[in-house]
Amino acid sequence: MRQRGFIYGGDYNPEQWLDTPEILKKDIEYMKAAHINEVTLGVFSWSVLEPQEGVYHFEWLKQLIDNLWKNGISVMLSTPSAARPKWLSDAYPEVLRVNEDRTKNLFGGRHNHCYTSPIYREAIYKIDRKLSEEFGNHPAILNWHISNELGGECHCPLCQAAFKKWLKEKYQTIDALNKAWNTTFWSHTYLSFDQVESPSTKGEKMLHGLNLDWERFVTDQTADFVSWEKKAIEDGGSKLPVTINMMYDFRGLNYHKFKDIIDIASWDNYPTWHKEAEEKTALDVAFQHDFIRSLLKKPFLLMESSPTATNWQSVSKLRRPGILSVSSLQAIAHGADSVQYFQIRQSRGASEKFHGAVIDHYGGMDTRVFKEVTAVGSELIKLSEIAGSETKARVAILHDCESRWAMEDSQGPRNKGLHYEDTLKKVYHGLRRLGLNVDILDMEEELDGYDLVFAPMLYLFRSQIETKIRNYVAEGGTFVMTYWSGIVNETDLCHLGGTPHDLMDVFGLRSTELDALYDKDENSGKSTGVFFSEDKTYTCKYFCDLIKTSTAKPLLTYESDFYKGLPAMTVNTYEKGTAYYICADFEGCFYDDLCEKLAKEKNLIHIPFAIPEGISVNTRENDTKVFLFIQNFREEAFVVTMHGTKWKLLMGAETGIVSQYETAVYWMEK
Ligand code: GLA
Ligand code: ZN
Repeated sequence: MRQRGFIYGGDYNPEQWLDTPEILKKDIEYMKAAHINEVTLGVFSWSVLEPQEGVYHFEWLKQLIDNLWKNGISVMLSTPSAARPKWLSDAYPEVLRVNEDRTKNLFGGRHNHCYTSPIYREAIYKIDRKLSEEFGNHPAILNWHISNELGGECHCPLCQAAFKKWLKEKYQTIDALNKAWNTTFWSHTYLSFDQVESPSTKGEKMLHGLNLDWERFVTDQTADFVSWEKKAIEDGGSKLPVTINMMYDFRGLNYHKFKDIIDIASWDNYPTWHKEAEEKTALDVAFQHDFIRSLLKKPFLLMESSPTATNWQSVSKLRRPGILSVSSLQAIAHGADSVQYFQIRQSRGASEKFHGAVIDHYGGMDTRVFKEVTAVGSELIKLSEIAGSETKARVAILHDCESRWAMEDSQGPRNKGLHYEDTLKKVYHGLRRLGLNVDILDMEEELDGYDLVFAPMLYLFRSQIETKIRNYVAEGGTFVMTYWSGIVNETDLCHLGGTPHDLMDVFGLRSTELDALYDKDENSGKSTGVFFSEDKTYTCKYFCDLIKTSTAKPLLTYESDFYKGLPAMTVNTYEKGTAYYICADFEGCFYDDLCEKLAKEKNLIHIPFAIPEGISVNTRENDTKVFLFIQNFREEAFVVTMHGTKWKLLMGAETGIVSQYETAVYWMEK
């Protein structure tokens, strides 16, 4: 990236204000006052850039970019593919989407186009290439922002044909496909690839292998579309980095499949602050920051966030004073190199007119929000030496999109309430309360380099994860896996011969049956005194795995029901390493205790104070320094004591007091 220091800005749509130059002029003045050094242009600007087919109007954009640059403001330039002009869909109806029920959409909305349509691809290629030719080497441009929040699927005949081709490439013969999907069930055998159609609630929706491959296809097709846009940009002569703005916990795409296409990861963060306890929201957001950073394992961008209310949420709650700072700096703490907003200037009409903005309809700088935005700008300047620094994590959690798709579609063992996210968050909480940086990995990644890896509910095994786990443990790693792992192969066929598949010797056990509990039920695991102290008992809900041990030692045993006395948690030594197996969905404090014990064993805790609930701690580092962020998401102030340590204050009070919504930053020579 060309920028030095942190990027501070956000989505700006001056095309909505071209007839009021005085407003555009003010915008620049306001941006400078707020320390804004970047704007993202061109998101949804197609109809202004190409008002008629083949007629391009770029002068306004050129003038704007030149002027912004003159004023020290850089630009991320978006391609306009996320919404199309009316002339395009009127002239070429094939560009509009067909829904899962095979009805065709009318013009409107945003992501309402077919990723497969050659006409759509051609139209976007032309405009992207021209944008690249015109602006791709402009000194103001930092990077390309391809499309906007990619998502959704299209079931049109073009997409059906592409899906068939995709399947044919994958399976080669229809027999192989039938076998992989177990189509003999309910007599759904296909005789040729031509017969296969995308899943639909009006037709086939129970063939889990089909559903899974369709989701993979949608990801691949979307990724292919992004590559296509990237090619247009490159063909236009620009070599600047590209990004796509991802969304919170988005299930529609496997974001890992984009990591070889993009140069920078970025995401849009719209938490519902003040809906739940702040610390809970903060933990949830933190997980997402870590997920996005882990994609490329380098600094990411916080591409969008709201300076105050978010109008598409059920309640547009104002962000309380201070939240803007703590949530913006939370992104930085987790490895972001930018804080960006949606939007710089609030639209006057249409669906986002009440969405929070840096400059609201009143149009002055003397607003609460503007003042807070300005304060965040100053904080970022103060912290600017941290930009570009890395986040090093020695612990990781496996969170695989494809496994989750399959697990959520599996029908049984609990069709309502797998509590997968809660389980992930319990592990994550256990690690974060120790101040550990955490990487979130999928199964395609390597595990070596981590001291501790957790795999909650790793239902589907793919990408040779069995071998990776085996090798990781054999070489001395500590691996923690839970119930409902290693159950199916990558086309959702159940593994025969016992689970967790191919790891029964590593864990020293076999899962014999999984009991799903009703919401009202609970059981508990009592410590055997080998690992946790003897008086420890943890309650569990939802799932109880009944295992048969071979070499594993029980660390907890069930306290009730017909499996009373059976192991509820085990440990097994396998070659140089250790494999823990958690049989049941235990309460949060179980994971807190487990993580603490394991992190201590592995000597991972380096924060010189105990971290209470609601206090969040992260580190980033560059070649010479380590930076420590301490953030307060609770009401009560927190006092940092650094006496006798090498940490020096970079931001925050000399007294060490970190009040609600405040951030303190310390640093230390490496
Ligand atoms: C998304 C989009 C933006 C805008 C915001 C509003 O993140 O990318 O264009 O609609 O939501 O919160
Ligand atoms: Zn289509």
